[in-house]
Amino acid sequence: MQLLSLLVSLCAAVSLVAGTSDNLTDAVTWDEYSLMVNGERVYIFAGEFHYPRLPVPALWRDVLEKYKANGLNAVTLYFFWSFHSPRKGEFDFTSPARDVQQLLDIAKELGLYVISRPGPYINGETNAGGYALHLSDGSGGSLRTSEETYYQAWLPWITEIDTILARNQITEGGNVILHQIENELQETRYDPTNTLVKYMEQIENATREAGIVIPITYNEKGERSMSWSTDYQDVGGAVNVYGLDSYPGGLSCTNLNSGFQVVRNYYQWFQNYSYTQPEYVYPWL
Ligand SMILES: *[C@@H]1O[C@H](CO)[C@@H](O)[C@H](O)[C@H]1NC(C)=O
Ligand SMILES: *[C@@H]1O[C@H](CO)[C@@H](O)[C@H](O)[C@H]1NC(C)=O
Ligand SMILES: *[C@@H]1O[C@H](CO)[C@@H](O)[C@H](O)[C@H]1NC(C)=O
Repeated sequence: MQLLSLLVSLCAAVSLVAGTSDNLTDAVTWDEYSLMVNGERVYIFAGEFHYPRLPVPALWRDVLEKYKANGLNAVTLYFFWSFHSPRKGEFDFTSPARDVQQLLDIAKELGLYVISRPGPYINGETNAGGYALHLSDGSGGSLRTSEETYYQAWLPWITEIDTILARNQITEGGNVILHQIENELQETRYDPTNTLVKYMEQIENATREAGIVIPITYNEKGERSMSWSTDYQDVGGAVNVYGLDSYPGGLSCTNLNSGFQVVRNYYQWFQNYSYTQPEYVYPWL
């Protein structure tokens, strides 16, 4: 009996996988197959939830329970800057619909991992891609660049939301395991002087400064560019774990008559552009 339990614990120890880390924590690591959470291989099956579209916190648990019941083990969350900052310099994370801590607590209680996605630009099929609407008078400067006016505009948002998320990381007893910056930002010129390279680095620095130690990710805008992977023409600004946003059915939202053009080259895509990392795809249908 004792021998058996010794064998069982040995096997458990052997099945722990080290993987590559971001050098800030070993709680979440990765290899070319999957993420590892606390040394255990985990295949992530996540669903996105836009809580600003359901600003009734009493209904959040029901939605996330359905995710769980459908076999998902994670939820990805966009955080809309527009929803939390009605005026420049003002942030609301405590009125009921904006109480992100409550949402993160529910995800944790249900055993759903969280992938956080605060932008600053999220697209998310929401007005102005989630930008706070007080930027619409032009005071945000040159959007999605490394320009100083824009940097000063988004920095308070990222600092505020990431400070909350940092407290909810798996390293702090929470359930956040991965953190996405920006959204579908296409790198087409591999040059360290490219303003987009500096912009990605600015966001990464602000993210780390706010206490986020888990791996940083991003999602590629379909197979239209090859961006921010450490495995492909990395001139700066690359993230820890590359992700691809793609419609496997190949349906065009703008031309419904295009029909389905099923994408069949995902494996080759990841072998080309992120071969040391999991095949992390955001398959919007
Ligand atoms: C972590 O450290 C190793 C060894 O110095 C280095 O090769 C690797 O690039 C670092 N990774 C990151 C994400 O900084
Ligand atoms: C990011 O931080 C690193 C390390 O402190 C620094 O060398 C680099 O200049 C920063 N990048 C930007 C774009 O601010
Ligand atoms: C992968 O790279 C090869 C060689 O450059 C190229 O022929 C192929 O089209 C690429 N495939 C994808 C899906 O990018």
